[in-house]
Amino acid sequence: MVLQAIKYSRGRLEILDQLKLPHQEEYDHVYSSTDAWHAIKDMRTRGAPAIAIVAALGLAVELVNMKLSPAAEDVTVFVLEKLDYLVTSRPTAVNLADAARKLKKTTESAAAKANADGESVREAYVSAAEKMLVDDVNDNENIGRHGAEWVIQKTEAGKKGPVSMLTHCNTGSLATAGYGTALGVIRSLHAKGSLKHAFCSETRPYNQGSRLTAFELVHDEIPATLITDSMAAALLQLKGPSENIAAIVVGADRVAANGDTANKIGTYSLAILARHHGVKFLVAAPRTTIDLATKSGSEIVIEERPGKEVTLVKGPRHDGVTLDLAVIETVSIAANGINVWNPAFDVTPAELIDGIITEVGVVEKDKDGKFDLNHVFKVDG
Ligand code: MRU
Repeated sequence: MVLQAIKYSRGRLEILDQLKLPHQEEYDHVYSSTDAWHAIKDMRTRGAPAIAIVAALGLAVELVNMKLSPAAEDVTVFVLEKLDYLVTSRPTAVNLADAARKLKKTTESAAAKANADGESVREAYVSAAEKMLVDDVNDNENIGRHGAEWVIQKTEAGKKGPVSMLTHCNTGSLATAGYGTALGVIRSLHAKGSLKHAFCSETRPYNQGSRLTAFELVHDEIPATLITDSMAAALLQLKGPSENIAAIVVGADRVAANGDTANKIGTYSLAILARHHGVKFLVAAPRTTIDLATKSGSEIVIEERPGKEVTLVKGPRHDGVTLDLAVIETVSIAANGINVWNPAFDVTPAELIDGIITEVGVVEKDKDGKFDLNHVFKVDG
């Protein structure tokens, strides 16, 4: 069975409810942009590329199933307003804003054509949104291939044989249209026979690592071990046959023009650990995550989420021996009344990043030790 976070056919969209994973696999219907906005805000769907695609397709489904105005202008106004609304669901990942910008452009161009009507504008929007779904899987497979080749050729361990890798958060099939970015690199190494062992961090507070990445690794039968976030330094100290980590590979929510990278909280700590231990630190992301309009990480808005994500944990009842999957309980794991700070992301300075793996290749620093992404990637419409 292929893991699919997003199931789509024209007029019908379902998302795998990631709040219920790994214990329950349930799909929710998304009928409209309002449904998509809530699915993203509640984190039933999450991960930078998946957020953008669910937003784009949520509106596509609404357009396909609604009674359409014959006037191109009415449909255009409707689409632009809904896209502005969708962008407000979560602020940090740039993929959503980037998708909205491109879809607005497509919609306005379709409306500007001679003989444009409501139907032709709708068709232009829906086809462009559907293309985003297809493109994302292809991009991820290419990210996986480029990243695996880089690790094999450019890390000391990779030159000798199969490698062990550490990853953070969830960047796999569940965070994208399929295959994944950082987890795609690990999948690609495994497919080539070049992966010895994958380690995934729990990723507190939301546990995308233990709930989602671990679920994907078990599903794909990739040899893997879960650690808590606080165990990463101790893991990097080990130089045994399977624990010798060749590289840490993570995804991204927004990469600024200078390479500073916003990603799941805890990424910055891992980058510092990697530098201290002489381990390569790689960011894997499609070009849609690179935000050339943002000069450096200090300009990135970091989403803050409710404190209850830190103080409460949800899961099936466990009597000490067996899990009862029918009964989902929420338990408090913190002192009542304590203040909580819950930033969802942090920014890793470019200085700590060794390479940015994209679908067109791995970007390394120039001779001055800087990522000049403005020069490497020109703005593509
Ligand atoms: O809060 P989340 O779960 O949406 O955060 C996800 C991440 O930080 C991922 O690393 C990032 O979006 C890349 S997913 C390919």
